[in-house]
Amino acid sequence: MTVFRDPIALQEALKGLQGSIALVPTMGALHLGHRTLMEQARQDNDIVVVSIFVNPTQFLEGEDLENYPRKEEADRRICELSGVDYLFYPDATVMYGHDEVHICAPDIRAYVLEGLLRPGHFDGVLTVVLKLFHIVMPDRAYFGKKDAQQLALIEQMLRNFFLQISIVAVDTVRENDGLALSSRNVYLSDAQRQEALKISSALNHAGKMIAQGVRNTEEIIQQMQQIMAPLEVEYIACVNRAFQYLEHIEMGNSIILVAARVGTTRLIDNVQL
Ligand code: PAJ
Repeated sequence: MTVFRDPIALQEALKGLQGSIALVPTMGALHLGHRTLMEQARQDNDIVVVSIFVNPTQFLEGEDLENYPRKEEADRRICELSGVDYLFYPDATVMYGHDEVHICAPDIRAYVLEGLLRPGHFDGVLTVVLKLFHIVMPDRAYFGKKDAQQLALIEQMLRNFFLQISIVAVDTVRENDGLALSSRNVYLSDAQRQEALKISSALNHAGKMIAQGVRNTEEIIQQMQQIMAPLEVEYIACVNRAFQYLEHIEMGNSIILVAARVGTTRLIDNVQL
């Protein structure tokens, strides 16, 4: 595995290589969710590039940019063990200049739910992802369904900018007890971790209601709220794939998304129906 900090040097190294190139963008503090993306990328492609960059433009003032877990040595080792060929590990000074061209996320998908609570977050995500796409020029890029809104926006950006990259969406990887893996889980105490399980329990319960034929989203959300109490719920929402709110679940076209705070840690999860 070769590590690059300089985008131009990575571009030079990739130039003229034969075979399909995969990109797995991450912010590090790698866990089994990230590893699953890398393993899928390894299976499908000749060359695997992983990026690790805690992207400052997607953090809002007061968010956890400074404290975001950084584990360079462990991450490097995980990449090596996952068969990664190139690890791109830039710092903010090589990724960003002053007063740059940047991407504005669209109104509908980017200013509901996560985007409403974190205005500008998706501008930062899309800008850095587009930079990474142009540096690596991958054939395929791997993203987790755990960040459903991010995934939908990246897919929209590809369509809007006519980029010929295939997005591979990977199912959410969970602990045995249902908790979705997240780099932010390290912030949780044992007691908070138990509380956090209410998020996946509520989503499971919604799945069961729907399997029993319930379609009314208000009824589903009410019961989810009861399961999640007393967590500080930021939103529970049922939307279609275009991120428009639904009164009734449409099978094959619906996502239920949840954001909640456990202590000061903000967690998100979802289920796609
Ligand atoms: P990060 O949170 O590090 O996540 C990197 C990728 O791993 C994302 O595509 C995310 O959806 C996926 N992922 C995280 N937890 C997962 C889980 N439990 N199961 C499956 N996949 C999971 O998302 C970002 O970084 C950034 O916004 C980024 C796209 C890198 C842009 O900066």
